[in-house]
Amino acid sequence: MIEFRDVSVTYPNGTKGLDGVTLTIPDGQFVVVVGLSGAGKSTLVRTINGLVPVTGGELTVNGENLVGASKRRLRGLRSRIGMIFQSFNLVNRVTVLNNVLTGRLHSTGMLRSLLGWFSADDKERAFDALERVGIVEKAYIRASQLSGGQQQRVAIARALAQEPQVVLADEPVASLDPPTANAVMRDLQRINRELGITTVVNLHFLDLARRYGDRIIGMRAGKVVFDGTAAEADDAVFEEIYGRSLTAEDVAEREPGALA
Ligand SMILES: Nc1ncnc2c1ncn2[C@@H]1O[C@H](COP(=O)(O)OP(=O)(O)OP(=O)(O)O)[C@@H](O)[C@H]1O
Ligand SMILES: [Mg+2]
Repeated sequence: MIEFRDVSVTYPNGTKGLDGVTLTIPDGQFVVVVGLSGAGKSTLVRTINGLVPVTGGELTVNGENLVGASKRRLRGLRSRIGMIFQSFNLVNRVTVLNNVLTGRLHSTGMLRSLLGWFSADDKERAFDALERVGIVEKAYIRASQLSGGQQQRVAIARALAQEPQVVLADEPVASLDPPTANAVMRDLQRINRELGITTVVNLHFLDLARRYGDRIIGMRAGKVVFDGTAAEADDAVFEEIYGRSLTAEDVAEREPGALA
């Protein structure tokens, strides 16, 4: 369970990233966070793995208080949180398998990993993860030779190889075309359902948010301004979150007649 209690983040330059956020994310939930650029979506997910320090309030992840946690505790917490980025963040010149094996770093140790001494167990977990995202046949190909959608699947497999309790994804489909974006969202959704891993995804396309979010959190200026189901998040709600009318830019795929 992830619990924000009146959490604020003020960056060193004085900018407010979060402003009094209170919310509880139960285990196994699939949460989509939406909001305009600068609303605080990335700040919110980064506080969960301690990448951005909380400056006010309390944040607990699986019972551990992140505020004032030592570096060692933060490292321990991070080992159980998988992170997925818009830009995939793979090591391009090594194989898909080696990229996924870096997800085992936390349990294997840096030196062994650098030397490539992964155990049979590590490799089995890496192959399992690749199978879950349907690209096990690419295991021995260099990451740079994959399409964007395939690279993002490798990044998901790397997160899975960590055996995470939580997966955080910061705009995971923003660099992908609509069909590929949907395929990657379906992978994330299937993994959430099959493995029960709590998943928090930042998205800026509202059609994807509605389609995949069990729960949608709307942010504006560092505050939670909507928290409800996809069914409750109609156009009027989005206009409120965005503080403006919706445009074609706000959807990944235009349906005939909608938002012309
Ligand atoms: N490292 C930083 N230092 C100072 N201010 C920051 C930093 N990171 C983010 N901010 C500020 O905090 C606020 C929230 O930023 P955040 O990146 O969380 O927004 P976002 O919703 O993820 O936006 P986007 O959709 O553009 O990714 C913005 O005003 C931003 O300028
Ligand atoms: Mg962001």
